[in-house]
Amino acid sequence: MTKLAFPERFLWGAATASYQIEGAWDEDGKGESCWDRFSHTPGKIHGGETGDVACDHYHKWREDVALMAGLGLKAYRFSISWPRVLPEGTGRVNEKGVAFYSHLVDALLGKGIRPLPTLYHWDHPQALEDRGGWTHRDMANWFAEYAGLVAERLGDRVTDWLTLNEPASFIWGGHVQGNSAPGRADRRAGIGAAHNAMRAHGLGAKAIKAVRPEARTSIALNLGLYEPASDRPEDVAACARVEAKRNLLFLEPVVRAAYPPLVHETLPQLADFIRPGDLDEIRAPLDFLGVNYYSSHRVADAPPGAAQKAAVESVDSGAAPVYGSDRGESSDTRIDPEGLYRLLLRLANEYAVPEMIVTENGFRRDADAVVDGRVADAERVAFLRNHFAAAHRAIQDGVRLTGYCVWSLMDNFEWAHGYAPRFGLVHVDYGTLARTVKDSGRWLAASSAANAIEVEP
Ligand code: FCB
Repeated sequence: MTKLAFPERFLWGAATASYQIEGAWDEDGKGESCWDRFSHTPGKIHGGETGDVACDHYHKWREDVALMAGLGLKAYRFSISWPRVLPEGTGRVNEKGVAFYSHLVDALLGKGIRPLPTLYHWDHPQALEDRGGWTHRDMANWFAEYAGLVAERLGDRVTDWLTLNEPASFIWGGHVQGNSAPGRADRRAGIGAAHNAMRAHGLGAKAIKAVRPEARTSIALNLGLYEPASDRPEDVAACARVEAKRNLLFLEPVVRAAYPPLVHETLPQLADFIRPGDLDEIRAPLDFLGVNYYSSHRVADAPPGAAQKAAVESVDSGAAPVYGSDRGESSDTRIDPEGLYRLLLRLANEYAVPEMIVTENGFRRDADAVVDGRVADAERVAFLRNHFAAAHRAIQDGVRLTGYCVWSLMDNFEWAHGYAPRFGLVHVDYGTLARTVKDSGRWLAASSAANAIEVEP
């Protein structure tokens, strides 16, 4: 075996999101979120499941922090539930909600685990959704108010902040396709919502820095790697369109405070939503970029319709890409550790991103089960080993990658798919809520302890 050593102080991490693990959906003064509303609406979630209890992390957080310490985590990426802190979205603060996150942060720091909070992982207050949510321009200002408040309360201990998680997912899935909360299906309004989300990122980052000038601000983007299936001009053009919609619509404003011509050509409606001064609102220092990577995609031109959908649904790791396309594209999605290497290099070289953290990468294996106290998930171990090796190679080639959070710390509520998909390093029995560390969790613990992984020569 060959040992691949990681840089000193590399952040071996794991990630979760509030709605996926917390449960306690209406306890201690928490307001309703758009995900509460969506999951309580019949027909929206596989098997009618909800996040009402989820992993019950709201009550089991002490046990969970102990688990993290056992896994050797150096960082924990979690998200803050906006309606737990601000039940109506703005104004009145729910002190019990703030206290929950404050205690969590203290417990993490007590174990030497760096907190990496995300302010928005899709569960915004239903009260704001009722006023238009992301389709309302003021949503950006409401978000900035919330970001400033949380930074004020936790920023004496938290230094690294992620504003939004995967705008591409909640815009295309939640606003254009309607298969996730808030369940809007309006392409034009969704494009306006994307612009408001970018304004929210910029205003939010600035609100954090206003109260905590020493804070580091970031965003987590899901940047699947898109490459044309062939060098046929039609495929190259189809790939460019998909990249514009999935990546550039979000990456370019965050990195360059601008939408490139290709984004305007692909989404001509966008221009209708941009007002003077908006790009200045979006412009904010990006101290590091959070990269969520699951798979790479070969994109081919295809007539609009059935073929595209079938191809898209064949995805076997991470959330399925949803194109919301008016022209057809078909995509072959694959697990591709090499793709992570190519993506990190592109971000460093073409976009001059100064520092990156892999904020999500993980493997879905629904068959995970506890047998004699053990969960043998060798495929996940192999997946992680290959992807960490790709990250290591990127570091060797000059990319400043300072951390890597595996999705997910534990099995959890996988949005519209309910509880069947299992992504955790820790198995959760949804009957008893018992946690069992999987072999992959042991692998991460050993790797973190060695600050290195072992691979076949
Ligand atoms: C990502 C989401 C995360 C989880 C994983 C599997 O797109 O950010 O919440 O659902 O996929």
